[in-house]
Amino acid sequence: AMFLWCVLVLVNLVSVATGTNAGVKVRLTQKGLEYGRQIGIASIQQKLRTIKVPDISGTEKVDPVGKVQYSFTGMQIVNLGLPKSALALVPDTGVILSIGNAYINLHGNWRVKYLRIIKDSGSFDLAVSELTISTTVAVTSDDTGRPTVSMTNCAATVGSVNVKFHGGASWLYNLFSSFINKALRNALQKQVRNLGCECPLYYTLNVFLAKVDQYAEIEYSMVGSPDISNTSIDLGLKGEFYNIGQHKEPPFSPTPFSLPSQDTDMLYIGVSAFTINSAGFVYNRAGALRLYITDDMIPSGSPIRLNTKTFGGFIPQIEKMYPGLMMKLLVETVKEPLMTFEPNNMTVQASSTVTAYAIQPNSTLSPLFVLNLEASVSTHIYVTELKLAGNLTLNKIDMSLAKSYVGPFQVTSLDNIFTIVLKFAVIPKVNARLQEGYPLPAIGKMQLVNSQLQVLKDYLLIGTDVQFTG
Ligand SMILES: *[C@@H]1O[C@H](CO)[C@@H](O)[C@H](O)[C@H]1NC(C)=O
Ligand SMILES: *[C@@H]1O[C@H](CO)[C@@H](O)[C@H](O)[C@H]1NC(C)=O
Ligand SMILES: *[C@@H]1O[C@H](CO)[C@@H](O)[C@H](O)[C@H]1NC(C)=O
Ligand SMILES: *[C@@H]1O[C@H](CO)[C@@H](O)[C@H](O)[C@H]1NC(C)=O
Repeated sequence: AMFLWCVLVLVNLVSVATGTNAGVKVRLTQKGLEYGRQIGIASIQQKLRTIKVPDISGTEKVDPVGKVQYSFTGMQIVNLGLPKSALALVPDTGVILSIGNAYINLHGNWRVKYLRIIKDSGSFDLAVSELTISTTVAVTSDDTGRPTVSMTNCAATVGSVNVKFHGGASWLYNLFSSFINKALRNALQKQVRNLGCECPLYYTLNVFLAKVDQYAEIEYSMVGSPDISNTSIDLGLKGEFYNIGQHKEPPFSPTPFSLPSQDTDMLYIGVSAFTINSAGFVYNRAGALRLYITDDMIPSGSPIRLNTKTFGGFIPQIEKMYPGLMMKLLVETVKEPLMTFEPNNMTVQASSTVTAYAIQPNSTLSPLFVLNLEASVSTHIYVTELKLAGNLTLNKIDMSLAKSYVGPFQVTSLDNIFTIVLKFAVIPKVNARLQEGYPLPAIGKMQLVNSQLQVLKDYLLIGTDVQFTG
């Protein structure tokens, strides 16, 4: 006998951006749903334990004794169980959780008074089975793509109720057991119905516009209805970085990609190159991809200093024109950096310029030269908590002269200086930011466990198990 069931239906997602390809895809596998079933059952069990059956009292006419005053008090749950449950995906519809062979046992006290003066009392055990709760959970989306969750079709019925009385005269309670049965059943049904309408939602997606830092936010609204097959639920999310409060589209759009048919993990998250490149676009636009480097950022043990003396060793005109001055460098991207994902291979294309200045005693900056800089970096991307983080290592640099204010010079003579400057001053700053990470879409209060990351064509695939906390 089915006892309790919950249906989670993800329907009618009125999406803001239909036709837009997803930047991020999320797949919940059967293994993930199975974990959801376990926490769902635990949560329903906990709620059932909180059921409080109020005292019942009344008067009934019973042949042959006439009017009987009765009361049932102190009803407490002594045992309950949801021994059998299953969670099934219904393609194109949603999720059904069914619970069978469940039971609740209560213990309470009874008391009666009849023929004006005769009193009798005892205890009773109440066994409830074949209780059914059904509720449909519909997830729809508002105009902004944020899902709203509502419960409809809430129904609860108590199947069979069995009462055993102890103490007192058995002939007596045999007479009124049928109406007592009914009274207890009604009281319980009411309690269960209240409970059923709070059927827990395991898979509420925290789809959001998440603030990343002072420059950027990331939008994870849905770009289409969830795709529910008989083995998984797939969600397509926008996964796009924006400048805070200014949603300008980048000059590139997501390349369609499909998640591979892996199912050994509970959850898969595909993050496209588009998503990561939209971040580059946003930070570049915000002017965040520029950095002034001063001498104090160079390790104190280094013989290379940011002054006209050190640089004069390679470009003598500098020391002649600006003797004894400190210098400052400005490293900035020329356009947004672009990342490319090929299977097991990530490349970053970042074109920047370096402008060198001499700092005059009155703080005026006198430009010395501008170099074009192409840096080849190795990128390590990893998942930490609910974030995607990264780490760059400098491989080599390639520089050319863009403009000189101090006459011609050999750019290659500066390779060592700039390698040190990048390694010790620029890369650590970039890594400090990358290591703070960028939020991934989350489902409820989840933690990622045993996450793995693969680089595939045009996207990163994160396979992970999850754990819910609280
Ligand atoms: C799931 O659906 C596919 C085709 O849509 C079918 O081939 C497969 O047998 C189904 N699997 C189960 C377990 O129903
Ligand atoms: C990685 O990809 C880039 C460009 O797509 C290519 O030039 C490079 O050779 C590849 N590296 C490896 C190790 O496959
Ligand atoms: C600062 O000093 C330089 C060099 O002496 C001079 O050319 C420039 O005009 C000065 N600027 C200001 C604002 O005083
Ligand atoms: C970053 O990369 C470097 C070199 O590969 C490594 O030594 C360091 O541990 C990495 N840091 C993190 C946080 O992964």
